[in-house]
Amino acid sequence: MLSLPMTRGIRGAITVEENTEAAITSAARRLVEAMMSANQVDAEDIACIIFSSTPDLDAAFPATGVRLAGLTTVPLFSAREIPVPGSLPRCIRALMLVTTNLKQEDIRHVYLGEAAKLRPDLAVGQTGKTDQLEDRMPSYRKNILDIAPYQPGKPISEVKREKGLTDVIKLASNENPLGPSPKAVAALQQSLGSLHIYPDGSCFELRQALAKRLGVDPMELIFGNGSDEVIKMLGLTFLEPGDEVLTCEPTFSEYAYAAHLMGARFKSLALKDYAFDLEALLTAIGPKTKMVFICNPNNPTGAYVNKSAVEDFLAGVPHHVLVVFDEAYYEYVTAEDYPDTIRYVREGRNVVVLRTFSKIYGLAGLRIGYGIAPGHIAQLVRRVREPFNVNAAAQIAALAALEDEEHVRRSRELNEAGKAWLYLELEKLGLEYVPSQTNFIFVDLKQDSQVVYQRLLDRGIIARSGGVFGCPNWLRVSIGTEEENCRLIEALAEVLER
Ligand SMILES: Cc1ncc(COP(=O)(O)O)c(C=O)c1O
Repeated sequence: MLSLPMTRGIRGAITVEENTEAAITSAARRLVEAMMSANQVDAEDIACIIFSSTPDLDAAFPATGVRLAGLTTVPLFSAREIPVPGSLPRCIRALMLVTTNLKQEDIRHVYLGEAAKLRPDLAVGQTGKTDQLEDRMPSYRKNILDIAPYQPGKPISEVKREKGLTDVIKLASNENPLGPSPKAVAALQQSLGSLHIYPDGSCFELRQALAKRLGVDPMELIFGNGSDEVIKMLGLTFLEPGDEVLTCEPTFSEYAYAAHLMGARFKSLALKDYAFDLEALLTAIGPKTKMVFICNPNNPTGAYVNKSAVEDFLAGVPHHVLVVFDEAYYEYVTAEDYPDTIRYVREGRNVVVLRTFSKIYGLAGLRIGYGIAPGHIAQLVRRVREPFNVNAAAQIAALAALEDEEHVRRSRELNEAGKAWLYLELEKLGLEYVPSQTNFIFVDLKQDSQVVYQRLLDRGIIARSGGVFGCPNWLRVSIGTEEENCRLIEALAEVLER
């Protein structure tokens, strides 16, 4: 039931598996995200969050996890509980004050893990006196509460509306600043009269052309509504509750999405030198590990792991594990020791390689990406595919874009020149950055990047604040056209008063 907006308190608690920084921050993040989604609360609705943790959890503050959830401006307070005999060990409790239309009795308190036993009457999913909303709706899969809603880069139209600006540029989502291939646009225009016909569910023509280009069997390709969908299809095919998905963070958020969607356990390790720590990942693989996601080059850092590290890693990976290399930025890579992962697919290893038409091919708005997997794996994944998952326009444009080598070459050259120029200019501003193999640069501002992000927005520049990746002092900027790059640097100099 809705009433006038009021300040209400949401209670929550979660138990943590071990006293490590990773486990504490991940549990705190999961708890806060579940409290928000159970009560349909946005970040702007939160007045503050007060945490307490049991004395056996001293490896990190829960607040760090909340920053990871993107709540960079919410006031937070962490306290340590007194050691009460018999109390639940390794427990984080939270009180979130929010402005909401929900009535007191409709607020949903969230108790996760062992903590659900503390207040079975209040726990999400349990029916109790105070949980009336839950009583009036169908039950649902509780693991969806673990899914953090995707936080996309702000659309240009929204910034224009909010800031009253007419000239806004977006350097937030690593799109191609040259736009789509003109050949793709022309092919699309020609095809518009056939939009009443369902697409070819098998993507036959594109499949043949791409297979030839990549030197794989056509049936080793899996097409998706963006490579996002291929990640989801891999989850639907392989993940069961109890399985573990392993990756490093910060990285692309869809791996966590696929894990949580399927009720699998999501475990992430720290990056090493801003790229995936393959040695640590190998050591962390256990009997429950089903999938390892390796984002290479990594988003948001732009760093990569080389061929010899990948060889060593694959040599030790047991047969029950599927290794997924996400190579969304493959076409921008210039490093000579970058691995040729499709070779492992050809060898029939348990490897899937993900690529996309959203980046260098400039077709992000049409949604088309693909996976390359050995036939026996691709065949399984195709079972979970929706009949017409890739729309007709995307197939036509992708085929034309694939053949427009001139556009790809120009895009790569523009990116290389822009990157070199931005490196120099960032250095002049005294800013450090991670050398990038992609079309974006991760910049260390050494101050709260949310403030800088907002000031750039005021100047009509949309960048990506590192808070969403758990790196509150970093900013990710896509490499744009010459003009866009100049505008970014001028604005940064102004905002940082350099
Ligand atoms: C590493 C990575 N993988 C996958 C994707 C998703 O690509 P698509 O547009 O094909 O879904 C992105 C998009 O930003 C990405 O950065």
